[in-house]
Amino acid sequence: MRRIAAEQCYRLIEPGPIVLVTTCMDGEMNVMTLGFHMMVSHDPPLVAVVLGPWDHSFSALRATGECVISVPPASMAEKVVDIGNCSGADVDKFERFDLTALEASHVSAPLIAECVANVECRVADDRMVDDHSLFILSAEAVWIADDADSQRTLHHRGDGVFAVDGEIVDHHARMTKWRDLPLAGRGLGG
Ligand SMILES: Cc1cc2nc3c(=O)[nH]c(=O)nc-3n(C[C@H](O)[C@H](O)[C@H](O)COP(=O)(O)O)c2cc1C
Repeated sequence: MRRIAAEQCYRLIEPGPIVLVTTCMDGEMNVMTLGFHMMVSHDPPLVAVVLGPWDHSFSALRATGECVISVPPASMAEKVVDIGNCSGADVDKFERFDLTALEASHVSAPLIAECVANVECRVADDRMVDDHSLFILSAEAVWIADDADSQRTLHHRGDGVFAVDGEIVDHHARMTKWRDLPLAGRGLGG
């Protein structure tokens, strides 16, 4: 095997779907692109996200304790990169990128209508924010587009390069130890 720099580790571990994170502070909506995230617990559903303190969204998440994690389809790839290369401190990204904000049920941050899925989140644990910019979020409500299972998502390999979802490999029948997982099933819709 060929050894590569430890700093390149994220390229292997990161590729969950690239997501957009929306916030709303003082009535102003914003959205950023985020690749550093992971599931922490099935039940309660907890997700960890890393938002740098330089992001405008960081201040909004800290202040409001609320956000929405939106999963964009592959067709939004260019917008996803551009959203992550400008700041809500300077520009209204919903307007610039022609995103449709939908009212969420539990949080002030908006859902994005063009996305495959939207997860309404509340900060459940902020003890690692000062050291690692890491927020533990609890998923309060999850919304899936009707055509979610026919859409493909983007997986970040670093530096604006993505893999697009391909063939589904279904080994559900072998998951004998995990029959009782919430929402076990094949499609995004559970
Ligand atoms: C593909 C991609 C992935 C990114 N992942 C993250 C991330 O995981 N965490 C983070 O803090 N910023 C990440 N960024 C950078 C933010 O999206 C960027 O700083 C953005 O301008 C913040 O917007 P805001 O200032 O409006 O909050 C990423 C950007 C791109 C293009």
